Amino acid sequence: MRMAGLIELRNVYKIYAEGLESEVRALDGVSVTIDRGEFVAVVGQSGSGKSTMMNVLGCLDIPTYGDYILNGTDVRELTDQELSRIRNKEIGFIFQQYNLIQNLSVLENVELPLIYQGIDPIDRREMAMDALDRVGLAERYRHKPTQMSGGQQQRVAIARAIATHPPIIMADEPTGALDSRTGLEVLGFLQQLNREGSTIILITHDNGIAATARRIIRLADGRIIEDRVQEVDWL
Ligand SMILES: Nc1ncnc2c1ncn2[C@@H]1O[C@H](COP(=O)(O)OP(=O)(O)OP(=O)(O)O)[C@@H](O)[C@H]1O
Ligand SMILES: [Mg+2]
Repeated sequence: MRMAGLIELRNVYKIYAEGLESEVRALDGVSVTIDRGEFVAVVGQSGSGKSTMMNVLGCLDIPTYGDYILNGTDVRELTDQELSRIRNKEIGFIFQQYNLIQNLSVLENVELPLIYQGIDPIDRREMAMDALDRVGLAERYRHKPTQMSGGQQQRVAIARAIATHPPIIMADEPTGALDSRTGLEVLGFLQQLNREGSTIILITHDNGIAATARRIIRLADGRIIEDRVQEVDWL
């Protein structure tokens, strides 16, 4: 038997309103294996199932049918507490709209996942400042998200995602709200994290952005219609 990948979907379905006229198969029999250290873009048109796939991969949602094996564990067998531990420790999430908490400072936002891990205040401040330093925003730590540009806010969100040093980073349209130059900076940052060993899953509807990934998985109507590895078109 071959070794399981880091991430393995086996014939996964996510069906809304099953059996009704309004039934939607957001994922319609998806099987895929992603190994440690890969940089994968999941690309497809609006409604093709990208965010649904990320939600399943990120243990934010559970398949209607089929299995999700993460790091050798069938996630269906995990308790809610174990699932939230995985979300917090194993995966860093980055979203299009940053999802920062507006009334917390930049530093407090980045500290949040560390608080959930129960890391003591001194260590967590140091880890959060390290992460902010990595995205070039250490000197802005007292600021509120609203005092920063979109690109800066996304860098704060990246700092929050990497503060716990998760092995997997999942980014759903991370450049969607940014101008192209700032978007390229964010993509460059993901490339850098990948070179340092992180497994990256980048969700995008944009073929140009997908072209920066070594592997492209294309979805249409909840199915994988293409899965290929390419020379990276980068820099
Ligand atoms: N909670 C839900 N209830 C019912 N249908 C849903 C739900 N969430 C998603 N869908 C449907 O599932 C399909 C896939 O949605 P999904 O959000 O995964 O698409 P997407 O590829 O991320 O699109 P976009 O590029 O617009 O973000 C769509 O038809 C959507 O309407
Ligand atoms: Mg989406």
